[in-house]
Amino acid sequence: MTYIEAIQPVRSASAKGAAARSDREAVLTGLKARRKYLPSKLFYDETGSWLFERITALEEYYPSRTEKSILWRHAQELMRGVREATLVEIGSGDCSKISLLLQALRPEALRTMTYVPIDVSPSAMEESRQQLRQRFGSLKVRGLVTDFLQRLDPVARYWNKLFCFFGSTIGNLERSQAERFLARLGRMMQQGERLLLGLDMVKERAVLERAYNDVSNVTARFNKNILHVVNRTIGADFDPDLFRHCAFFNEQQRRIEMHLVATCDMSIGSPCLDRDLEIREGESIHTESSYKFTAGDIEAFARCAGLEVNAVYTDENRWFSLVDYLRRIP
Ligand code: SAH
Ligand code: AVI
Repeated sequence: MTYIEAIQPVRSASAKGAAARSDREAVLTGLKARRKYLPSKLFYDETGSWLFERITALEEYYPSRTEKSILWRHAQELMRGVREATLVEIGSGDCSKISLLLQALRPEALRTMTYVPIDVSPSAMEESRQQLRQRFGSLKVRGLVTDFLQRLDPVARYWNKLFCFFGSTIGNLERSQAERFLARLGRMMQQGERLLLGLDMVKERAVLERAYNDVSNVTARFNKNILHVVNRTIGADFDPDLFRHCAFFNEQQRRIEMHLVATCDMSIGSPCLDRDLEIREGESIHTESSYKFTAGDIEAFARCAGLEVNAVYTDENRWFSLVDYLRRIP
């Protein structure tokens, strides 16, 4: 079999059309709901992916640097014995985290590996392509630009898989959705295959809320950018400047909630709507949930995915966990 040493974003015209239709429906459903909401995957257009990268460098946003420090510290151990494997990264973003694992491999081992990044953001995928080619030229890369909740089956054909789901992106899914997704991953995994799952843990409210309310307002820009994406998706005329960024820890639900709060009454038009959408001053659009986890969740996820907890790595504050799950078929 010949491999092309570059990412081949797999997204046909018909797949693009279906994705656009599904985004449109999801936006309309969310905006017509009594409590308005938007699907958080819409954050990641080119601007959103760039803003997210800026978030990861913020002093307030501890999750990225904490998870990276764990990966950096344990990379050798995590990659010990990994050869001729397929690294499947879900929500791969800028590929900076997988790079920490790849750099722990010897050149002869690297040559035996295939990397399959999956991300809905074409710009993040393109940036990764350039980065990986420069740093790890001998790595075989097969990128998938798709919604990982909708299209994961192309991954089933790979063997000796190591799934990576970093960044606590699983926390952006509703609990039932996260459990169903993990159960699906579990079913795709063969004996001895592993899943590395990054989980942001429950902690002091002040630390959590600071991470989503940075003083330089990058998170606020990231949040408001979703309205530009909505405008393009349904041809609407939202003015993002008429909304205020709001992020807080909902203790009962154990999640950060991000909202956009209308600062005045407004009517939003779109060719996809029968009549204008009326939004009142103070009304909010829920744009993201970011669930935080406990030790109990680590075990519960193992049970619902049919996996074993092989190891749990954490930092000195125990703010973030990197869980190494193993599929062992009795
Ligand atoms: N794993 C990286 C990026 C996290 S940001 C890190 O830890 O830094 C979340 C990433 O997941 C973004 O790149 C976004 O484009 C992608 N993403 C979010 N929802 C997605 C979905 N439903 N399907 C595919 N990719 C998704
Ligand atoms: C990608 N995801 C895990 C981030 C989070 O923390 O929920 C997205 C984000 N939203 C605001 N800041 C970062």
